[in-house]
Amino acid sequence: MKGGHPKKTLAPTTDGLRQAISARTDMSITPRQEKIIKLKESVELTQEYTNEIIGELNVTNEELTITRDYADAIIRTVRGPLLVLNKDLRIISANEAFYNAFKVAPNDTENRLLYDLGNRQWNIPKLRILLEEILPEKNTIEDFVVEHDFKDIGQKTMLLNARTLQQGPDKTSLILLAIEDITVRQQLEQQKDEFVSIASHELKTPITSVKAYTQILGRRFRKANDMKSVELVEKMDSQLDKLTDLIGDLLDVTKIEAGRIQFHESHFDFNDLVEETVEELQRTTEKHHIEQELQPSRTVYGDHDRLGQVLINFLTNAIKYSPHADKIIVSTAVDKDNVTLSVQDFGVGLSKEDQAKVFERFYRVGGSDQSTYPGLGLGLFIASDIIKRHKGRVWVESIKAKGSTFCFSLPMTK
Ligand SMILES: Nc1ncnc2c1ncn2[C@@H]1O[C@H](COP(=O)(O)OP(=O)(O)OP(=O)(O)O)[C@@H](O)[C@H]1O
Ligand SMILES: [Mg+2]
Repeated sequence: MKGGHPKKTLAPTTDGLRQAISARTDMSITPRQEKIIKLKESVELTQEYTNEIIGELNVTNEELTITRDYADAIIRTVRGPLLVLNKDLRIISANEAFYNAFKVAPNDTENRLLYDLGNRQWNIPKLRILLEEILPEKNTIEDFVVEHDFKDIGQKTMLLNARTLQQGPDKTSLILLAIEDITVRQQLEQQKDEFVSIASHELKTPITSVKAYTQILGRRFRKANDMKSVELVEKMDSQLDKLTDLIGDLLDVTKIEAGRIQFHESHFDFNDLVEETVEELQRTTEKHHIEQELQPSRTVYGDHDRLGQVLINFLTNAIKYSPHADKIIVSTAVDKDNVTLSVQDFGVGLSKEDQAKVFERFYRVGGSDQSTYPGLGLGLFIASDIIKRHKGRVWVESIKAKGSTFCFSLPMTK
């Protein structure tokens, strides 16, 4: 046993007892007396054990206090609001940040039911679903956005992270609920998106007129048989197209963020779309040959131009990120539920970590071999949003330095 606790022996020592009995009777000890002595010895031993156990319990208690203080210190130090709830959603403790952010006092908070706080201001339907239905099933919840109009602090957007903990021998559950106020951050994001949206929109008009002038100039130079100038003007024109595409991408992203991207849906032949797009892209590259391996066509329902945009994106990436290859394969696969399109290249490829991130907004692979390729990191983000809005799936398979296959599948129209 741990700890050097002094043995507190409360019973008189048996040696003393023996002497006392001998002295009193002045004869040898009888069996009855022997029994009493044995009993006394047992009592003494039990007492010793009890003392040791009490000592041990004291140590465990100390350890418990240390652990609790430690956890308390962590909760108090966390900068964002944090609540500890029991499984009935009663508040066990809250940190300073919570009291400050939500303008409530500890007395009105601890031991209260979460939903009863501050005149039932926390009785938020989305939060109830989160804590009562999702959390018990999953045990952790990450980055769940809740918006709510609080009486004292106004409209707030909160990012919630929650986790259940099983505590003690009877495994009672505790819930840790971290609440991040992202209202200001969200407003700034929105302002930025609005700015990008207005700026891109304003840029479109002058570019359209510059493009019209280059075409007039082109015709004039051609008439005057000044072929050198025709070539320069054509280069200008193609750079203007690139600029228009970039602005288009920026506009699309702001529309996606604001949930304003619009689709014009119709029934169309999927292979026709693939063939048209491949033909268009084949004209932009001399080095690469785009091979087509298409299964018999199907009619799909969706936005023809937007789905074409996804394919253009996959193909321009395949061309851009395989500078030393000369082949790209576009294939389709059809089953009764889905049509799947794949664009395979034999280029720089992607690591597993990058594969998980390339569909994020502004994500571009870092490193010296990648930094030479121009782009904003928006193409795949837009593509994945378009496919998701068509209730489809988008993914990539790739091996670094061997090549990548970007795919999407769309549900077939019944
Ligand atoms: N076929 C590919 N092979 C290797 N890496 C790729 C491929 N396609 C995309 N990537 C990587 O994914 C990143 C994101 O692609 P995305 O198309 O979104 O942006 P981008 O091509 O950089 O710019 P843009 O906005 O002009 O499309 C790229 O920067 C590149 O690092
Ligand atoms: Mg791209």
